[in-house]
Amino acid sequence: MKTVLITGGAGFIGGNFVRHVLRAHPDYRVINLDKLTYAGNLASLADVADDPRYEFVRGDIANAELVDLLLARVDMVVNFAAESHVDRSIMDADAFMRTNAHGVYTLLNAAHRHGVERFLQVSTDEVYGSLAPEEAPWTEASPLAPRNPYAVSKAAGDMMAQAFAITHGLPVVITRAANNVGPFQYPEKRVPLYITNAMEDRSLPVYGNGRAVRDHLHVEDHCRAVDLVLHEGQSGQAYNVGAGNDADGVALAERILAAVGKPTSLIEFVADRPGHDMRYDLDSSRMQALGWRPRFDMDACIEATVAWYVNHQDWWRPIKDSSDFRAYYARQYPAPPPALRRAS
Ligand code: NAD
Ligand code: DAU
Repeated sequence: MKTVLITGGAGFIGGNFVRHVLRAHPDYRVINLDKLTYAGNLASLADVADDPRYEFVRGDIANAELVDLLLARVDMVVNFAAESHVDRSIMDADAFMRTNAHGVYTLLNAAHRHGVERFLQVSTDEVYGSLAPEEAPWTEASPLAPRNPYAVSKAAGDMMAQAFAITHGLPVVITRAANNVGPFQYPEKRVPLYITNAMEDRSLPVYGNGRAVRDHLHVEDHCRAVDLVLHEGQSGQAYNVGAGNDADGVALAERILAAVGKPTSLIEFVADRPGHDMRYDLDSSRMQALGWRPRFDMDACIEATVAWYVNHQDWWRPIKDSSDFRAYYARQYPAPPPALRRAS
């Protein structure tokens, strides 16, 4: 038996990866270390909670004592734990720096002390910055040039992981993935926000002119990529994980509205995100050389994700109805001032 520490396993991608590992590797045990921030949700893991190969520990990756105890018990680490939402990092980046920078350092330090056989740092395409329309996709050799507080905190974790590989010989691998979509994504992120708002007949807020381009990677494709890199990636290397499912904001909103069966009049243009990255695009040939290919094209991503949110309203409605979410929404999407009335 091997034991894998999966951090952030109560979140969107981490939870899907916990399930993936238990299914794909019958000889593995999983320890899920998660702080249960606003984005962590044990309801997402109800189906594996009683699996004897699964253990949940509530705690912080920046807690050196706890991390030291856990690292003594594991063979491999996959670090998903993070503050993950760009808009929240623009409001306040404190927790982002603590978790995404110092937390990653704390894990790396313990992994080095305990001599783990593999450390996979889950990074992001946002560390590369933003591309102009005609620019070539990023390769892993492209310079890291993050532009928003979230991306900077992730670049700090990414670079610290590289530093541990170079200076301490820690067997580190890094993945840099595109925007994930699929089951259990917290509905602050665009795709689940648009699907659930459409279902509730609320408007779909499109930042700025709606021309920013994102690639859409199904979370199951991402999980297969992380598994492959964990086992077959070359130590010290980073791996881009993109699916080539590009769409801009307007096209995406129209696609989701069509899938949910709601009118395009629900599209509402709102203030742009400050420092909005206008385009991400990854060259994933290094990942493909390991034999990985995405299985979900754009239509399959939207179709499967819409179907999941339609069939799992018991999962997302309590989140959207919570006072925390409502307070966040009111702050992020302030209602426009009422139209000025002409004095009669
Ligand atoms: P998420 O916000 O859904 O989940 C993050 C999880 O980490 C939550 O369960 C939260 O409780 C936990 N967490 C936060 N701080 C912690 C701490 N200090 N200690 C322990 N646990 C903590 O995020 P996600 O979308 O699933 O993203 C997972 C990872 O993948 C992140 O590292 C993110 O940067 C990266 N990533 C995400 C995407 C995407 O599109 N969502 C794309 C590429 C990379
Ligand atoms: O690319 C990988 C990154 O993808 C991950 O590292 C992040 O953790 C993840 O949150 C995601 O970041 P984005 O900023 O790209 O995702 P988000 O869903 O917040 O926004 C996607 C695009 O949609 C972006 O161009 C901003 C725009 N947008 C977003 C929201 C929430 C809107 O137009 N309206 C919205 O209401």
